[in-house]
Amino acid sequence: MATSDYGLMIVIMMIAIFMASYTSADPDFLQDVCVADLSSGVKLNGFACKSNISADDFFFAGLAKPACTNNTFGSNVTLANVKQINGLNTLGVSMSRVDYAPGGVSPPHVHPRASEIIFVLEGELNVGFITTDNKLFSKTIKKGEIFAFPRGLIHQQINIGKDPAATVGAFNSQLAGTQKVANALFASSPTVEDAVLTKAFQLETKLLEEIKSRFALI
Ligand SMILES: *[C@@H]1O[C@H](CO)[C@@H](O)[C@H](O)[C@H]1NC(C)=O
Ligand SMILES: *[C@@H]1O[C@H](CO)[C@@H](O)[C@H](O)[C@H]1NC(C)=O
Ligand SMILES: *[C@@H]1O[C@H](CO)[C@@H](O)[C@H](O)[C@H]1NC(C)=O
Repeated sequence: MATSDYGLMIVIMMIAIFMASYTSADPDFLQDVCVADLSSGVKLNGFACKSNISADDFFFAGLAKPACTNNTFGSNVTLANVKQINGLNTLGVSMSRVDYAPGGVSPPHVHPRASEIIFVLEGELNVGFITTDNKLFSKTIKKGEIFAFPRGLIHQQINIGKDPAATVGAFNSQLAGTQKVANALFASSPTVEDAVLTKAFQLETKLLEEIKSRFALI
């Protein structure tokens, strides 16, 4: 093999390694199981492993029933991540269930550590995500159908049917994280300076204060 062929091979291998490290959200695991010890004081990327484990560390019944949707947004998220299912630690997967009242909304939010794929259990929803060049990709989906949201992009869902709706979502992270856009900007602690928000949203201070006061109540 000529020297330049070796060079090319090394470049291809480096690209492959680079791609591999970017195709999975969570880091790969180094043992069969590492059930999270949530009470451990050890700080690391994820959770320390506990030693006395059982099948129940990999079990959760919490998505079986609809959650109560009598709240401001008319929706309720039930999480099934490493915090609820300790055995998910290091496995790079988790789930959630969202229930919607008629007209209920899952307000614009992002998952910083995972892409999401949802399956409609009941009802009919309009769902969509917005790319970094501000293009909206949205679609109406109904029972049995699936939609995917790329990691880190703002997305939202609304129940457009007359009946309650429910979806189950899967994430390629043990702890996808959720940041609601409006809550982050209008109800952070301490608050984002008014001067930043009035400029960013082109709002009068009075209107900004009104928006902030509504989020303070949620
Ligand atoms: C391990 O857990 C089981 C049940 O969860 C318990 O009965 C047993 O005493 C535990 N053993 C140790 C060494 O903690
Ligand atoms: C979500 O549902 C659970 C179970 O029904 C309930 O306890 C909780 O208060 C609900 N949360 C909101 C914000 O409605
Ligand atoms: C939830 O239900 C109670 C009683 O049915 C009602 O008083 C309350 O206003 C409801 N809350 C919301 C946010 O719809």
